[in-house]
Amino acid sequence: MDLGLKEKVVLISGGASGIGEATVRLLAAEGARVTIADRNSSAGRALASELTNAGAHVLFCEGDLTREDACRAAVTDTLQKWGRLDILVNNAGVNDGVGLERPPADFLASIHLNLFHVFALTHFAREALCQSQGAVVNVSSKVSVTGQGKTSGYAAAKGGVNALTREWAVAFAPHNVRVNCVVPAECDTPQYENWFQSLPDPAAARAAIESLVPLGRRLTRADELAATIAFLASPRAAHITGQLLFVDGGYTHLDRAVSVSHQKWG
Ligand SMILES: NC(=O)c1ccc[n+]([C@@H]2O[C@H](COP(=O)([O-])OP(=O)(O)OC[C@H]3O[C@@H](n4cnc5c(N)ncnc54)[C@H](O)[C@@H]3O)[C@@H](O)[C@H]2O)c1
Repeated sequence: MDLGLKEKVVLISGGASGIGEATVRLLAAEGARVTIADRNSSAGRALASELTNAGAHVLFCEGDLTREDACRAAVTDTLQKWGRLDILVNNAGVNDGVGLERPPADFLASIHLNLFHVFALTHFAREALCQSQGAVVNVSSKVSVTGQGKTSGYAAAKGGVNALTREWAVAFAPHNVRVNCVVPAECDTPQYENWFQSLPDPAAARAAIESLVPLGRRLTRADELAATIAFLASPRAAHITGQLLFVDGGYTHLDRAVSVSHQKWG
């Protein structure tokens, strides 16, 4: 199926690594024109030049998206370079582990880290998206619906991402702009690997989590998230809006008491 993404213009926050990087690679391969907005200058530059050298159309826009001027610049640089904006992927995020014991100022900083740029980028992109009758795809986390116990700021911010997906689906609907959200749970990315490496026995921790994933007993791959993001962003999803789609091998919703011990038939 042709996703119809050729020459669409896409802005991806956090596109230099993990799920964002996989999405950049996929959309570039589909013929889209892609802006990577990321604070990781070396990874962002390297990815953009690798893909550009291979014939793709990719712009790297360096900036810390906790800053309003960086969010504005990511949108204006995209419009200047490509002349339009069809798709915004709000992917950047960090599970920073700010729990209930931390001072309220840390909580606010955590919300700022994970939610501010989602609003700011969408705010600055709104007119261009209306003009192109485009799409927004947000990236949330299963923590927004299950909790994690030690990460109040991240949980609240990702809950906010879920809520804004619905809010903006309503706000943008008269303009024929769609807003959807993918929800990863346990996805094999550099951020996730860093967390494993912070534990006393990374291999055992990985095996324990993998054993809880009903589909395949493995972590989700970043390219599996990317494929879902690309579909939701594409004209093939023309009548889908306001949806939260869990791409997690059944980890969040299936009955664990049954699925952990469940064996194949026969
Ligand atoms: N990996 C998982 O299992 C998992 C689970 C649930 C949710 N998520 C969400 O998926 C998204 C992508 O995560 P990932 O695992 O690919 O992470 P990652 O760390 O591999 O990549 C995230 C990218 O975002 C960039 N970034 C983060 N904050 C930024 C900021 N303020 N300004 C500019 N760039 C910024 C980083 O530099 C990095 O390149 C995040 O929103 C994360 O919360 C991931």
